[in-house]
This record gives sequence, structure tokens and C-alpha cells, in this order.
Amino acid sequence: MTKSTKNATLTIDGETYELPMFSPSTGPDVIDIRKLYSQAGVFTYDPGFTSTASCDSTITFIDGGKGELLHRGYPIDQLASKSHYLEVCYLLLYGELPTSADLEDFENTITHHTMIHEQMHNFFRGFRRDAHPMATMVGVVGAMSAFYQDSSDIGDPRQREIASHRMIAKMPTIAAMAYKYSVGQPFVYPRNDLDHASNFLNMCFSVPAEEYVVNPILSRAMDRIFTLHADHEQNASTSTVRLASSSGANPFACIAAGIACLWGPAHGGANQACLEMLKEIGTPDRIPEFIARAKDKDDPFRLMGFGHRVYKNFDPRATVMKQSADEVLDLLGVENNPILQVAKELEAAALADPYFAEKKLFPNVDFYSGIILEAMGFPTSMFTPIFAVSRTVGWISQWKEQFEDPQQKIGRPRQLYLGETERDYVDVENR
Ligand code: SDX
Repeated sequence: MTKSTKNATLTIDGETYELPMFSPSTGPDVIDIRKLYSQAGVFTYDPGFTSTASCDSTITFIDGGKGELLHRGYPIDQLASKSHYLEVCYLLLYGELPTSADLEDFENTITHHTMIHEQMHNFFRGFRRDAHPMATMVGVVGAMSAFYQDSSDIGDPRQREIASHRMIAKMPTIAAMAYKYSVGQPFVYPRNDLDHASNFLNMCFSVPAEEYVVNPILSRAMDRIFTLHADHEQNASTSTVRLASSSGANPFACIAAGIACLWGPAHGGANQACLEMLKEIGTPDRIPEFIARAKDKDDPFRLMGFGHRVYKNFDPRATVMKQSADEVLDLLGVENNPILQVAKELEAAALADPYFAEKKLFPNVDFYSGIILEAMGFPTSMFTPIFAVSRTVGWISQWKEQFEDPQQKIGRPRQLYLGETERDYVDVENR
């Protein structure tokens, strides 16, 4: 790390503490408070980590003010238009864009890891048919360490690499199986002659009764959705994976923890919640009612797919997703989709409203993704599982970086204690 030219001095009750500062390759400098408690006997207080860097990383950079997202330095809009998901997976995992030979080798490796252990099929049958697919995925992924012990010794770099490949390769299969189980259709095995996105669509939508031909428009849109959700710095689910990794937990358990965190409507569950909100609005004439509710302090309702902890400008992924929504619906002949109409008019109304402008609330990645996924034939319950399929490469890349960082130690935050101070036990007859 590079020492900053800035200095930080903290004075508490007349005592002055010099705190080291470090500079990033781009973005804000950091104040190193690792020795603050031992030197000054005080904690910092930052419950939502709004001003806290939990680690150093070389994988993804976000500039919330500019609406900029870089993966290993490459802007997301360039990757979305010029690259494809498995190449972005290679970039996130290994740090550089692959040569054509390395890419072919990597894609071949991932393709040949897409099947899951046959005995794992039994796990799905233990769930109710109406279980949310995210519940199934948390359970099945968490159990993977019971089947892949030969890649659970995380001290071995080769086993870490195999576990990473297995996670990227098997998540689409697990998600597709969770979907098939929920609709009472037979599981469809992966096919090695299909690309990653086409294989996922085939596992979700093909049935034994007839031939299924993957629509190239949908496959390209699916791959782009995978690319746009691949990684996003230290978001809630990635931070969950890192915290689990800091205890030395196996990668499958860490990813299961990430899936559980992603499920929440404030995070990855927002794409499902957003489409359900758009359907509840139903027609453009009801938009003012929902805008008013979103602004009402006494109403817990929030505009799903709007706002972001980091982006105080447009989420660059939302911009690409919006273009993709237009293209896909147009090519599918559903450009007059009423939900897309409501989304566009809601976005325009919110962006024109001072409340959203003052609070810098813009559409995020979840605002348009659900519209595309519904047009592709997915039920809303599959939206967050698809987010999880994509984000697996981000989680596993950050897990690997965390494990290989010599500075990292078990994550163990402290607290501002507001409870009772010491008091003596009172026997029940005296209470
Ligand atoms: C993702 O972190 C990541 O990178 C996440 C993600 C990723 O790729 O991993 O980008 C994916 O999770 C995107 C976000 C998806 N979530 C939603 O769309 C749910 C709706 N959005 C909000 O819940 C909210 O905007 C958050 C959770 C996304 C961010 O919340 P913050 O940063 O904690 O901001 P906040 O809740 O403190 O809000 C600031 C103000 C508040 O008003 P005041 O208390 O200051 O008066 O803005 C208001 C909020 O009430 N506000 C909203 C709002 N979001 C924030 N008001 C109405 N509608 C909204 N959507």
C-alpha cells in the first residue's frame, strides 16, 4: 500500500494521535485506524460501513459520484458490449483478459464442471415444491462441501482454483434444477455443446417432450445480464462471503452465506420486488400515488430498483440494462409491454421529482433486469437466483483474494454497548 501525502490527526481530550493514511490507485484515501483502540481506547462507529474500507482489493472499482464501474480496470459498458460472461469470469479470477488459447481452455474447464454429483439430486426432493428457489440454493450450495472434499483444502492453491471453477460451473445447474423442481418438470442435464448462457436457458426451459432451440437473442441477453451482475466491490453479500472466509470456512459454505444475504429485498431481492411493484402500479396513472408513498416518511414503502448506497448518479449497469430491455422486448415483439411502459414513466417521474434528485436516488441494476427476465419467461421467484448465478464469480474471486491476503485476519467488529451495566441476580421470589 502507498503512504498518502495527507496526514490525519485525532485529538481526544487534549491527547493527539497521528493516524497513518494510505492512497489507492484511484478513489478516496483511507485512514488506518487499526491501532486506534490500543492507542486511544476508543472505537470508531459506522454501523452501515458507509465510511469504512473493510479490505484492500484489486478486483472492482466503483465511483458512485461519476456512476463508474471498473472490473480489473475495464469499464462495465465496454465489457457488456464487447466481452461475454465467461471471459469476464476469467478477468475477475485471474486479473487479466485471457489470450484466445487461455479463454478456450477456461471455457472448456468450466463446461466440464457443469454437472453436479448425481446424489445431490435427492436434496431438491426434500424441499416443498413451493419453496423459494433461493431457499433451495442456500441449502444445496451449503451441502456441496459434503460432495467435493477434493477441493475443500483451501490451503492448497490448486484446490482453491478447482473450487472456484466448480462454483462458477455448477451454480447455473443448481439454479435451473431449483426452477425445474418448483414447476414440477424433470431436471435437464447440462449440455457441453452449448455456451454458458444457452446451456442455462436450455436447462431451465427445455422439456423431454419436444426439442428446445435456444433463441440467440435471449441467449445474448442472458449472457449480458450475467456480465452486468458479476461483481460489485464490497456489497452486502460479498462482505458476508469475506467475513465467512475470514474464519477459514470452506468456499461452498462461504458462497451459501452470500446467497442468503443476497436474498434480502434491499439487496439482490430488489429485482423480484421491483417487478412486483411495477405490476402493483399496473398503469401509468397510478405512478403519482406510489411516488408520494415513496416520499412519505411514515410509509415504509420504497421505490424498489431505485437508490444505492454507493451510486449517487446513474448505476452504469442500469443504463446498459435499459438498452437491453428495449432491444429484447422489441426483438421479441413485446415492445408495447405495459410493464416496460410503467417502468419508463416511473423512472421519468422520479427523476423529475426534487425528492429523488436531492437524495440522489437513481435507477439501479435491479430496475430493468426484471422486465427482461420476465419477457424471457422466468417467474419473479427466479430473478434473485439468476443474480446469485452471476454474482458467484464475484463472490469466489473476492473469497480467493481475501484468503490469499497476508494482512487479513478473522473479522471481528466491536460495538457501542447501550445495555445494562453490571447488576446482581435477583431470585424469582423477589422479582
Ligand atoms: C443492489 O451495494 C451494492 O453494490 C448492491 C448491488 C450489487 O450489485 O451488489 O448494487 C445490488 O442491492 C442494488 C440495490 C437494490 N435495492 C433496492 O433497489 C431497494 C430500494 N433501495 C433502497 O432500499 C436503498 O436505496 C438502498 C438499500 C439500496 C440503499 O440505502 P442506503 O444507502 O442505506 O440509503 P438510505 O436507506 O439511508 O436512504 C437515504 C435516503 C433515506 O431518506 P432519509 O432518511 O435521508 O430522509 O433516501 C431514501 C431513504 O428514505 N431512500 C429512498 C429509497 N432509497 C433511499 N426513498 C424512496 N425509495 C427508495 N428506493
